[in-house]
Parts: sequence; structure tokens; C-alpha cells
Amino acid sequence: MDLGLRGKVAVIMGGTSGVGLKTAEVFLKEGAKVAICGRNENRMKSAQDHLLSLAKKESVFSKACDVTLKSDVEAFITSTAETFGGIDILVNAAGQSVMGYFFDITDKQWEEQIQLKYFAIIYAIRAVHPYLVKRGGGRIININATLAKEPERHMVATAATRAGLLNLSKTLSQELALDNILVNSVSLGLIRTDQWERRRLKSSPDMDPEDYYKDLAKKRNIPLGRVGEAEEVASVIVFLASEKASYVAGSTIETAGAIGKAL
Ligand SMILES: NC(=O)c1ccc[n+]([C@@H]2O[C@H](COP(=O)([O-])OP(=O)(O)OC[C@H]3O[C@@H](n4cnc5c(N)ncnc54)[C@H](OP(=O)(O)O)[C@@H]3O)[C@@H](O)[C@H]2O)c1
Repeated sequence: MDLGLRGKVAVIMGGTSGVGLKTAEVFLKEGAKVAICGRNENRMKSAQDHLLSLAKKESVFSKACDVTLKSDVEAFITSTAETFGGIDILVNAAGQSVMGYFFDITDKQWEEQIQLKYFAIIYAIRAVHPYLVKRGGGRIININATLAKEPERHMVATAATRAGLLNLSKTLSQELALDNILVNSVSLGLIRTDQWERRRLKSSPDMDPEDYYKDLAKKRNIPLGRVGEAEEVASVIVFLASEKASYVAGSTIETAGAIGKAL
């Protein structure tokens, strides 16, 4: 199936690892050009090398950028547009969660979560908007979590900021529809990425990884009986960015193996 992505330019905030990196891979396979960013230079270098092993040099751009810093975001978006001659798609995938109950979370941690889950997205959308308008429209896909609708006490700051982002995405889908920009969310459950690998290595370094993830799926009651893989999320993101999703806006696609009961 031709997804109509050949020659399109996709910017992936936080594309140096996990879901973002897999998404970059799938975009490249579909003939799109990708720009990725992250803070850690080594991770970015290895992500860039990996993507260059799959595609031509002219299709990949990377630049160090902390998405919580407005000036970094503006510089990254401007350089991407200059490199590729425009931008069609923005994927907000940068992030990590903070675990802790209400009385454990410090003001600093609250501020960091608000900065990462909220302002980073505001900065990126403001910066990319004029380029999407120049193209006559575009796509914005915000990665979110099932926690937005089904909070868990031990992840209070992540859940609360995710809920805010879900609400913002809905408003933006209506406001930006006037510019033919389709805004959607992809809501994740438990996906096997570097984020989970770090947790596994910290809590159960000696356990067989396959057993660890089987156990996790069981403990979290995932109806599909397993955690998800990054490519299973990437294909949903790329679908939302494609011509095949030309009337999908303001929606949230849960990619979570039927976890949770929220409607
Ligand atoms: N995996 C899951 O089960 C799950 C569940 C729900 C939601 N999510 C969300 O899905 C998104 C992707 O997560 P993932 O699992 O793919 O995690 P991951 O493998 O840890 O990748 C996170 C990416 O975001 C980048 N990043 C983090 N903070 C950043 C910052 N301040 N500035 C720039 N880049 C930043 C990281 O690069 P640097 O660290 O080098 O900056 C990395 O490229 C995140 O928003 C996460 O919260 C994941």
C-alpha cells in the first residue's frame, strides 16, 4: 500500500531512541526524509549511523536539542527546514516518565514534567507551524500514554501532565484544522524500549529479559498478554502521518494491547 509519504519531511522530537527511532526507520522505508534530535551526543551519533545504514545521506538530519529549551527547539526546526527545504510532519516523541507518589514528587520534578510534557510540545508546534502552513497543511502526532485517562498513584506527575497534553491536543486539532494541519495522539501502554530496558537493568539485571517482560505483562494485566514493541507504535504513527489518514484529526489511537478500561 502506498502511504503517499515519498519525499515528505518528518521531524521527530526525541528520535534517537525507542519509539522515535523506530518511527524514523519506518518513515525512511516509506521514502520520507527524517530529522531527529536528542540531548545525548553518543546516542544521537549511533542513531544517525543506524539510520544512514538504511537510507541515503540526504534523507537524514540530526542535531542536538533539548526539547525543553525554546531556543534549542527553534534552532533544530529552522535547521531542518533549511536542510530539507520544508517540513510536513511533526512527531512529538521525546520524553520519559517519573515514578513517585504525590508526597514523593518534588517541585523540581513537577516543573520538569510540565516542561517536558507540555512546554516542549508547545515550543515544537509553534516553531513548526509556519513551515506546515507553507506546505498547505501537515500532520502533528503527539505521543501520549494511557495514564492520561487512567492515572496511577505511583506516577502522579506523569499522569497529570499527560492528561493536560491530551486536552491540548484536542484543542489544537480544532484550531489547526483551519490550516489543514491534522493533529492526533497515540496513547501508549507498556512498550519495550530503552526506557524499560533501563528499568529492567536497574531492578532485575540478572533476570532473563524475555522472562522479565512476560512477568511485567502478567503483573500489569495486559489483555494481549505481552508488552508492545516499538515498531508496533511506529506503524501507527506513520499511518497517521500518511495520506491514508487524511480525515483523521483530533483522535487518540490507543496502542496498548487493550490495557485499561477508560472509554
Ligand atoms: N515505552 C513505554 O512503555 C511508554 C509508555 C507511555 C508513554 N511513553 C512515551 O513515549 C515517548 C517515547 O518513549 P520511549 O519509550 O521510546 O523512550 P526512550 O527509548 O527513552 O526514548 C526517549 C527519547 O526522547 C529523548 N529525550 C528525552 N528527553 C529529552 C529532552 N529533554 N530533549 C530532547 N530529547 C529528549 C531521548 O534522547 P536523550 O535522552 O538523548 O535526550 C530519546 O531519544 C516518551 O514520551 C514516553 O514518555 C512510553
